[in-house]
Amino acid sequence: MRLLKESQPEFVSGEVLCKELGVSRTAVWKHIQALRAEGYDILSQQNAGYRLVGVPDRLYPQEILSGLKTEFIGRHIFYYPQAPSTNILARDLALSGAPDGALVVAEEQTGGRGRLGRGWFSPCGKGVWCSLILYPSVNPAAAPPLTMLTAVAVARAVQQAAGLVPGIKWPNDLLLGGKKICGILTEMSAEIERINYLIIGTGINVNLNGEDFPEEIRDSAASLKMFTGRDVSRIKLLQAYLQEMEQLYRIWLEEGFSPVLELWKEICVTLRRPVRVSSLKESVEGWAEDVDEEGNLILRLENGALRKFVAGEVSLRPF
Ligand code: BTN
Repeated sequence: MRLLKESQPEFVSGEVLCKELGVSRTAVWKHIQALRAEGYDILSQQNAGYRLVGVPDRLYPQEILSGLKTEFIGRHIFYYPQAPSTNILARDLALSGAPDGALVVAEEQTGGRGRLGRGWFSPCGKGVWCSLILYPSVNPAAAPPLTMLTAVAVARAVQQAAGLVPGIKWPNDLLLGGKKICGILTEMSAEIERINYLIIGTGINVNLNGEDFPEEIRDSAASLKMFTGRDVSRIKLLQAYLQEMEQLYRIWLEEGFSPVLELWKEICVTLRRPVRVSSLKESVEGWAEDVDEEGNLILRLENGALRKFVAGEVSLRPF
């Protein structure tokens, strides 16, 4: 694949492939057939050799790795055409010793999981449904802001790959035109002072059309394609996400959450405005004053008092 890509749009001769790979012509032919079965469009012409004409819209590890500029995030990839949930698979892989920064990615999830026990709609080939496995040696109490860090990474990746500028809704939903285009679900296994593993699950709605979404979420969810008007490369988006993630994760490990929080605040669209924070128990209205170093939302209530929220669903209210 590397040789075919390097010589695009020209042919590579069968002889060069045999020589470079140290295999027979029959072996080269078999491999080309295998690539065709994966969806690669490869022309073969007598006396000229092979030419790559088209690459399938699939999140194959070799495509993600080709041109990926990271040192450890996404360098080890577990790929599934279909998975129940990448977060669940990632947990099993972490338990059996998957390397730090390993990526689990699926074309489709049959039991995608969302926050607060909800599901996550993950149709085949239309989004980036993935989980990262990390083993940060920090106190478990320092881990929650990682979800906010991830939101910053996705926002920057969306800007690079699709030219769109999403906003963050506290704590970590990404919005375009007021609709959700990405959700993040972080899960952790820890002892009092030590993290065993951390799973950061990210679902980005990339190339869904409006009518692809189930009716219940059609008013509140959207995809990148609905704003660009054309397909967005899932590979480019995922690569940009992994690169941004590595950069921000390093900053977080070395300098703490403050510099990342500053970036997060720049992208947040639910700060310094009237909001409603809802949880299973209650719904509280107030002014979104700030977000503290632990990622908690500080709400100024109507009576002037300040109240801290660790979790909840924010909705905007008119000024
Ligand atoms: C949310 O409810 O906002 C969080 C949604 C998280 C969805 C992603 S898709 C990849 C990973 N696997 C899952 O089952 N969930 C997360």
